[in-house]
Amino acid sequence: MSWVLEEMKARHWKEVLSTADDPDIARAFTFIANLNRVNWQYLLSSGRGRAALCIGEGMGTTAHALSGNYATVVATEQVLARVDFMRRRFEQDEIENVRIVRAKFPDLPFAKGSFDLVVFNGVLEWLPSGQPSEPPAEVQRASLRKAFRLLKPGGHVYVGIENRWCYEYFFGAKDPHIGVPWVTILPRWIANWRTRRVTGRRYDTYLYGRRGYVRLLRRAGFTEAQAFVAKESYNNPETIVPLTGGPSEYFFRSIDVKPQRAHRRLAQAIASRLGLLGEMQYAFVVIGTKP
Ligand SMILES: C[S@@+](CC[C@H](N)C(=O)[O-])C[C@H]1O[C@@H](n2cnc3c(N)ncnc32)[C@H](O)[C@@H]1O
Repeated sequence: MSWVLEEMKARHWKEVLSTADDPDIARAFTFIANLNRVNWQYLLSSGRGRAALCIGEGMGTTAHALSGNYATVVATEQVLARVDFMRRRFEQDEIENVRIVRAKFPDLPFAKGSFDLVVFNGVLEWLPSGQPSEPPAEVQRASLRKAFRLLKPGGHVYVGIENRWCYEYFFGAKDPHIGVPWVTILPRWIANWRTRRVTGRRYDTYLYGRRGYVRLLRRAGFTEAQAFVAKESYNNPETIVPLTGGPSEYFFRSIDVKPQRAHRRLAQAIASRLGLLGEMQYAFVVIGTKP
């Protein structure tokens, strides 16, 4: 990051990232520059005259994409280098309606009812690691309650996150946050024991299934809470599909068909038979509405 920030003094951020020799930077570039990641915003009503808040905004992609639709956007981030990156990115792209706040959620300097949209994209699962003495699920619940208070009536919360019950985890795929297999699908106390053995730290990047996310949002006060499948991921949601019903069935049978190994085909056929195909995809976008 310090190399990138230094280079950005003389060159545009896109040029710096896209021409870097480091393959990690090149990979990050496609993801940091892709504003289409935030097209879920068009599922909501127009942002004209409205205010959005992005929690844990990272390198600024969501705030950048929202800035063309919302009147004002606040991007909060705790890591200084990312705050500096965003500041230079928005300056270079002449984006004037994004305010960057270096802060650690939930300690934010905003009054109740300040926003029409609060965004947690790839963040809700990380929040417990910032409060290691609190139970992880309680940190996540309290975070959503805080988002609820920050929203105006009729406002929305958006959560982009992985699915605990993705079928790949049943074949031993590693958890995408801590790189340990099985932990997402194990009971939490066993996942904790296993994570401590492997990494020396507690297991706290809690994921949930569709019902778990909807329950979290409802308990925080959101009356309407709906989850969609984000294919291939919430970080690159080329398609956002309802979990059940005709359009979902059509999508999984006609569009989301690619060559698979036999055991995966079998797992998918069983999930489909049980009506659970949508429930076992990799990632969700979940949208809640404050009454
Ligand atoms: C996986 S990244 C996601 C970044 C961005 N939201 C995106 O979608 O590209 C998680 C980000 O959340 C930030 N973060 C984690 N806990 C935070 C907290 N308590 N307050 C503010 N930011 C936090 C991290 O510094 C990191 O930039």
